[in-house]
Formats: sequence, C-alpha cells, structure tokens
Amino acid sequence: MKLTLKIWRQGGPSADGEMVTYPIEGVSEDMSFLEMLDVLNEELIAKGEEPVAFDSDCREGICGMCGLVINGQAHGPEVTTTCQLHMRSFSDGDEISIEPWRAEAFPVLKDLCVDRTSFDRIIQAGGYISANTGAAPDAAATLVPKDDADRAFMGAECIGCGACVAACPNASGMLFMGAKVTHLGELPQGQPERYARVVSMVDQHDAEGFGGCTNLGECSRACPKGIPLNVISQMNRDLQRAKLGKH
Ligand code: FES
Repeated sequence: MKLTLKIWRQGGPSADGEMVTYPIEGVSEDMSFLEMLDVLNEELIAKGEEPVAFDSDCREGICGMCGLVINGQAHGPEVTTTCQLHMRSFSDGDEISIEPWRAEAFPVLKDLCVDRTSFDRIIQAGGYISANTGAAPDAAATLVPKDDADRAFMGAECIGCGACVAACPNASGMLFMGAKVTHLGELPQGQPERYARVVSMVDQHDAEGFGGCTNLGECSRACPKGIPLNVISQMNRDLQRAKLGKH
C-alpha cells in the first residue's frame, strides 16, 4: 500500500506543533499501525531526520501505553488499541492523520507522546485497597457472588490508555474512574474504603483539569475494552451516598 501520513510534530511541551506530511510506500496490510510507524521512523533515521516519537510497550493490547488519534478517532477506525490496529483497516492511497491524545490533563511531551501521569495521581488518590492480604487465602474463604465477580472483572479490564478522555468532547476521565471504582467496589476487600475512595478520586480528577460527564457515550464507544457507560452511574451513586453520608 502507498499512503500519505499527516503527523503531528512537536519538539517539546512548550514548542509549537504542526501537522507534517510523510508519503510512505510498501506498507503491508498485515502490519500493525505501530509497525507501519516503525517503518516510517527507519526511513527518517536513514535520511538523518528526527524520528516520530510515540508511546508503546506490550504491543498486545494489554498495557495501555499506546494511544493515537487516527483520522479523528481515538485508536482509529476499529474498537481496539492502536497497537492492535492493522493496516488492513485502510486502503491503498489513503491519507491518514495521526495526532496525540488531545486533553488539557494530558499535555503533549513530544510529537505523539502525552503525559498521562494525571491518571496515576487519580489512582494514588484512592484507586487501591489497603487490606493486608497476608498469605494467599483459601479461594473459598471469601465468597463473592458470580455477578459481582463478573462485574468487578469487567471494571478491572480497563488498561488506563486514556482513549475515553481523548474521545470525550469534555475530556472527561469518568469512564476510567468508573471502571476502577466498579472493580474495587464490587469486591469485599474494597468495601472499607469504598466511599472515601470515590470522593478522593473525583476530587483529584477535577483538580487535574478533566471535564465532567454529560452522558454522550463517546468514551464507551472508543474504549478498547468495551467498558460500559453504566460504571459512571455506579460511581455517581457511590459519590452521592458518600456526600450525603448515606452509606
Ligand atoms: S502497546 Fe500495550 S496496549 Fe498498546
């Protein structure tokens, strides 16, 4: 395939950025999107030019490091991570625009890399349990209803990639927080801090500059793990109970 890439280039956090056009040839439909960028970078390095900076780690859809806005969509045209997007989703002759996540709380570090430590600070504010687990307990010692276990597991699938924020017109991180609150709040071990957790996480979310949720649902549609919008309802219920002292 022969493609025209229009890529956001920005030398550093305070530098001005611009879209730069790069033609690329010989792209196989079996390549992942990141492998296609690797090929471009090899060509740029061979020409003595600065390669395009982008994040990745596992390249298996697990770690949440990768994330690009491709043709205006977080992670591109398929519901998957950027590393699991393949070039067969595009056609010969296509023009593809590639930008970093766009959100005040995710400032651009360089080119396509953004600083997502705001998510880390939200987790530090309350996305954990402090129960001393000790040695591995008997699996049947704490019974968890199957529906609760399934819902906790669904929340635990969030990889913290930030696509929800990038897709949301309000740049809200509520799907991310809702997934974490649901994951921990459905399990017995998560109960002692359940209500303090949601208050601290929401306060940190707002302090980081993320926007509020207006139920548009773009976050859930872009989520590579299919986290449903109702985790936000669960988080809001816990928040309301915490604020009203009704728990
Ligand atoms: S690089 Fe790990 S999820 Fe994409």
